Amino acid sequence: MTRADTLAGAAPFDAMSVDCHTAPGVGRAEFAQGLYPLPPKLFGIDTVWAPNELFWIVTHGITMTGMPAFGPTHNDKAIWSIVAFTSYVDELSYYDYSDCQKYFPLAEAPVQSSSLPCHPRASGDPF
Ligand code: HEM
Repeated sequence: MTRADTLAGAAPFDAMSVDCHTAPGVGRAEFAQGLYPLPPKLFGIDTVWAPNELFWIVTHGITMTGMPAFGPTHNDKAIWSIVAFTSYVDELSYYDYSDCQKYFPLAEAPVQSSSLPCHPRASGDPF
């Protein structure tokens, strides 16, 4: 895992994790404040779980909680980058975190396919 691989996780982290789990200088989104269980801050999470365990959590999610599975929409390389950035983000200042987003915009994130809306309409449903 190179530094570039780690930083490639910055944009997907910002797009998909920060609303629930926070980042330096960024709090939970309003919707995430009402989740039960409350999504924990992930600072120091690499001292709780090994990298392969974090990979599993991000790939499969945690059933019966708000924690989604990213395996259906992201390839292994993308998930390893998310895991690496998640383990690294607590070392950043607010300004460093903002810089990561500037240098690794969402368009460059190695996402496998576009995500579906939460509740896709049945085919033929005009509304
Ligand atoms: C790429 C984005 C994400 C990453 C890397 C990520 C990572 C993780 C990890 C590592 C844990 C385990 C924490 C622990 O054991 O203390 C976790 C738990 C959790 N996540 Fe996420 N997460 C992401 C996105 C989200 C989103 C978008 C939500 C909310 C909609 C969410 C809600 C939760 C919740 C509620 C838990 C706690 C589950 C429990 O208590 O068993 N996560 N997440």
